[in-house]
Amino acid sequence: PAEVAREALDRLVVDVPDFPEPGVVFKDITPVLADHDGFTAVVAALAEHGRLDDGQVVDKVVGMEARGFILAAPVALALGAGFVPVRKAGKLPRETHAVSYSLEYGDATLELHRDAISPGDRVLLVDDVLATGGTARATRELVEACGGIVTGLAVLMELSFLPGRETVGDLPVSSLVTL
Ligand code: PRP
Repeated sequence: PAEVAREALDRLVVDVPDFPEPGVVFKDITPVLADHDGFTAVVAALAEHGRLDDGQVVDKVVGMEARGFILAAPVALALGAGFVPVRKAGKLPRETHAVSYSLEYGDATLELHRDAISPGDRVLLVDDVLATGGTARATRELVEACGGIVTGLAVLMELSFLPGRETVGDLPVSSLVTL
């Protein structure tokens, strides 16, 4: 499945120069989502990482707002696991854990419902891109605050010119494409 997914990403991801600001090349994945075969291939490839060495699958798949939701939800269904959203501050209605981290300009806060992950749950994180790694590191902290065990992070694309892997430390990262 990984090869078919890579081919779909090569063919369908659109580079948008100077978005959202000058000097940044935005990777627009919406054409992949709009292509049924492409979307199917990337979901299947990401879902492989939710299968564990003991023959079981993860209990939960966590997606990070907003593009992570689009990928993590079908991955969860494909695996027979639950889907859990990690959201930006102030969006989740019940008791949460919250983690703040620094961005280039200012801070960001992510939240997770406290009861969304049970102690001992094995959890796969799914997102579109690993860039600086701040989002993934904060999400891991949130899952661990609930007593969950993060088994890995699966992304479509990894930006190798940013220190994402360093930031996430010993978290196993699987990316379909390294840029
Ligand atoms: C993007 C992307 C990842 C994150 C990666 O989301 O979808 O979640 O940034 O960056 P990092 O590794 O430097 O943390 P963004 O915050 O732009 O949110 P969006 O999906 O709501 O646009």
